[in-house]
Amino acid sequence: MRRSGLMIVTGIACLSAYAGVPALDQRVDSLLVQMTLTEKIGQLNQLSPRGFGEFALAVREGRVGSVLNEVDPEVISRLQHIAVEESRLGIPLVFARDVIHGFRTILPIPLGQAATWNPTLVEQGARVAAREASSVGIRWTFSPMVDVSRDARWGRVAESGGEDPVLNGRMGGAMVRGYQTDNPADPTAIAACVKHFAGYGAAESGRDYNTTWLPLPLLRDVYFPPFEEGVRAGALTFMTSFNDINGVPSSANRWLLQDVLRDEWGFDGVIVSDWGSISDMIPAGVAADRKEATLLAAAAGVDIDMEGLCYPAHLEEWVKEGKISEETIDGMVRNVLRLKFRLGLFENPYTEIENRPVMYAPEHLETARRLAEEGTVLLKNDGILPLGKKPGKILVTGPLADAPHDQCGTWAPDREKSRSVTPLAALRRMYGREAVIYSPGVRYSRDNSGDGISAAVEAARDADVVLCFLGEEAVLSGEAHCLALLDLKGRQRELVERLHAVGKPTVAVFMAGRPLTVGREIELSDAALYSFHGGTMAGPALANILSGDVNPSGKLPVTMARLTGQYPMYHAHKNTGRPPFWSVDIDDIPLEAEQTSTGCTSYHLDAGVEPLYPFGYGLSYTEFEFGTPTLSAQTVSKSSAVPLKVSCTVKNTGNRRGEETVQLYIRDKVASLARPVKELRDFVKISLEPGEARQIEMELAPDRLAFHGLDGSEIIEPGEFEVWMAPDSSSGEPVTFTLTD
Ligand code: BGC
Repeated sequence: MRRSGLMIVTGIACLSAYAGVPALDQRVDSLLVQMTLTEKIGQLNQLSPRGFGEFALAVREGRVGSVLNEVDPEVISRLQHIAVEESRLGIPLVFARDVIHGFRTILPIPLGQAATWNPTLVEQGARVAAREASSVGIRWTFSPMVDVSRDARWGRVAESGGEDPVLNGRMGGAMVRGYQTDNPADPTAIAACVKHFAGYGAAESGRDYNTTWLPLPLLRDVYFPPFEEGVRAGALTFMTSFNDINGVPSSANRWLLQDVLRDEWGFDGVIVSDWGSISDMIPAGVAADRKEATLLAAAAGVDIDMEGLCYPAHLEEWVKEGKISEETIDGMVRNVLRLKFRLGLFENPYTEIENRPVMYAPEHLETARRLAEEGTVLLKNDGILPLGKKPGKILVTGPLADAPHDQCGTWAPDREKSRSVTPLAALRRMYGREAVIYSPGVRYSRDNSGDGISAAVEAARDADVVLCFLGEEAVLSGEAHCLALLDLKGRQRELVERLHAVGKPTVAVFMAGRPLTVGREIELSDAALYSFHGGTMAGPALANILSGDVNPSGKLPVTMARLTGQYPMYHAHKNTGRPPFWSVDIDDIPLEAEQTSTGCTSYHLDAGVEPLYPFGYGLSYTEFEFGTPTLSAQTVSKSSAVPLKVSCTVKNTGNRRGEETVQLYIRDKVASLARPVKELRDFVKISLEPGEARQIEMELAPDRLAFHGLDGSEIIEPGEFEVWMAPDSSSGEPVTFTLTD
């Protein structure tokens, strides 16, 4: 009996293929008709194991459909055997985990991966994560997170692709493909989960879980596109977000989940709540109790209750009371069963033991290193970098120089810090132990003792070059770890100031979960690299860049502000009716000056209007020259099937090979709703030999010029547009074209 469900299903699959009916749906339905209501609700219940015995009983009775946070392959295997061989219908479990940027081999945090601007490499990284995670039996990851985030106070900016919808969408799509491959039933494929739908990154004041107030044009122009890209990439699952949008929590938002995600975008996968986000509706003030929260979520279209314990307790009651139909439950269960069939779990529920040596495979470490290299941004170089093979005596200092745990960043629950190669270890290996003096100065990023600063300063006197690894600990970013002040913590600035006074050439290397306000530290350094948290191979990657073995090519996926108070800050901002032509520094305002004397324009007296570094910015050890863009036409009709072609020549004018990211920006000059001063529309990363020039062509189809009106509908308005092809969001000269009816 135990296995008969499985056999019947398989048999019907063959018949349905013969009859021409979609095989998958028929397999799902043939199983569904055999299920009791309790078994159906069991498929909608996702839990972490709590003590084996009781949990095993729930699995045996079909009261759990998916499991999260179990990574022990033996436990996974035992539970799966119970589900398949001892439950009435033999429906396999699916094991889920937050494999956010690698499983054991930790890749750079997603923000660092976005800084590569290299979706192909990011896809390879997701493949590494999937291979390692699937080898213990995990077949579902809660990644990618594609929440556009324009406020670095929000700790989860670390998990995102940054401030831009196009960049987030490309990175998210690449991750989906890397996790799932073309065949999610492959035993090394894992289901992706595009999260958190939607608007989570707009949390007010960058404080996690906070409310958002998002008008339709902003949702549809900025927050939705990366999610739609996730559907296009074939993501099998979606997760709702914790926040409310305009007062409606995402887990209760039928418009979001049904009208947009399912009906408009055609998503037929699983929608899972976030952890407890159904019961969170009680403190949020939209549900009186768990029972009411259950009704709201099920009616909105949330298929699985993650750790909320609402569905198993109350769904059946609602069905009996007639408020939720069994057809609705069937629809939810179908989505879950479809996922399990798509993952091939009915045919292959168990994980082969021999898959396991895959952890830290040499090619995985190499992918991790390449991601960390390409995700490192050179912000400043007064000529001191690269150091070359014989830089003399090197002082390695700062709290992140030898922090194997922290360099892995947030959301790396399966990291093994003993496997991290730190910058200190990598530099010693590269230059020899005698050439490297180590004096941390401060022991960890928040260290307020100042005990080690004098020793580091003394050591600097004996050094030829100082490498100062600054930043933040992993725990200062990520979920629920938001900051109101983005300056370096502890006494890191003092360390930099005192080292500066010694006068040796100094390189500042920042390793952090977000863009920090480090203008002063950069000013006091001769060169600066921004590397985010680079993962297991952060050390070798940085050593390769510092020495010059690798030419840096990272570009900022976020705008770096001068002061925290400038956030939210992003390149695609509106011009306002009072854009600043000039700004007056607060210290230059005379006493008792007239109110109007500073210009009455839009800027902060104590920060001006410019960021520290713009979105898309990043230097190289070589130089690139961009020609003026040319257009295939000066006018283009909005109904034209032929896209406008924009081209420009990019030349490597330096004397070493390098990679450059060519970025296409547009501006709709006059529209019925004010449009951003620049919007990224496309990008491509290219590699050029010294002296090599290449013509780069990108297409701008009329729909890439569209935006959404106040009622949420798409508008393509005729008028004049500017277009840039540039190395970052603040350079280059635009060319103009006209869109006609
Ligand atoms: C986070 C999700 C995560 C989930 C499962 C939640 O707290 O918001 O991003 O996937 O936990 O661990």
